[in-house]
Amino acid sequence: MITETTTTGMYEQLKALLADTVPDFELRIKAEVAAEINRLKAEKNAVILGHNYMEPALFHSIPDYVGDSLELSRKAAQTDKDIIVFCGVRFMAETAKILNPGKKVLLPSEKAGCSLAASITAADVRELRQKFPGVPVVTYINTYADVKAESDICCTSANAIAVVESLHTDTVIFIPDEYLAGNVARETGKKIIFPTREPVKNFETELDYQMIGWPGRCEVHEKFTVEDIRNVRKQFPDVVILAHPECSPEVVEASDFSAGTTAMIRYIERTKAPRYLLLTECSMGDNIAAANPEKEMLRLCSIRCPHMNQITLEDTLEALRKDQYQIVIDEVIRRRAYSSVERMLAIG
Ligand code: 13P
Ligand code: SF4
Repeated sequence: MITETTTTGMYEQLKALLADTVPDFELRIKAEVAAEINRLKAEKNAVILGHNYMEPALFHSIPDYVGDSLELSRKAAQTDKDIIVFCGVRFMAETAKILNPGKKVLLPSEKAGCSLAASITAADVRELRQKFPGVPVVTYINTYADVKAESDICCTSANAIAVVESLHTDTVIFIPDEYLAGNVARETGKKIIFPTREPVKNFETELDYQMIGWPGRCEVHEKFTVEDIRNVRKQFPDVVILAHPECSPEVVEASDFSAGTTAMIRYIERTKAPRYLLLTECSMGDNIAAANPEKEMLRLCSIRCPHMNQITLEDTLEALRKDQYQIVIDEVIRRRAYSSVERMLAIG
């Protein structure tokens, strides 16, 4: 975080970090906007939360806290500020609102969705429950509030295995990320199926699977392939490859390390490989490279999340100026969603 409120001071600090990443003319414009955001943030008693995927000039300047979706949920739960500005996507801002019904939660762009959150509805969850009665529903945090409201417990990529294991049940419904579910099934030794339109026969007596998934995917992480990994390893045999668990189980298996976004960052900070390749949203590689100039980060990167990409410094300034776009959640849904988020936070 850069607390600077003058344009010159902000520019100097951003330049020291990002001279190799962001062109100078752009840095000057961004510095002016970031300094203005910092002034307004103090005036309006706001806190800014920034996801690890934010573009470098934003990530390194205005957020009071940066992190993965679990860390930012915790920060949202703890804040005493009047306004929470979420530099991330809608489901993250909704989670902050679920935890803080009395506060104003702002998302700087209305277009910041998520392909996983869009892949499932509350009615889909109700149907799954009917099909598999009594089976607990674990819902990835990348879902909207009405889906969380139909669930027993949430999880993020940082705690998915711990959440599934905490239930001590033979079977779980794990939605909506097909690949994350596959990766959790692999790690926990569970067999996974995906529901079909057919009715389930003898569910109680002929159970030969323990996880029931859903065919949702992250439109960014599904693009990485085992072929990509082979090609990079051929050219750079000493590369260490990190894959987010939203990548396919085959990609995760072919990589060297897999975890949520903050765990990937910490892994790179703590190890000394000749070079690293990140199979995740591209901005995170830029952010790590800026903070750790001694590390060599390979780029396989034309892949930016089109939703995270919507959040800019300019829109964040407008959000603070106009109190937009406010997250509103029906109170009955919020209360039910709160219990699945709260249950997750109690686990870790
Ligand atoms: P993390 O919880 O690991 O930050 O991931 C969120 C996300 O949307 C990844 O695509
Ligand atoms: Fe959703 Fe994928 Fe974007 Fe993350 S990277 S917000 S999972 S679309």
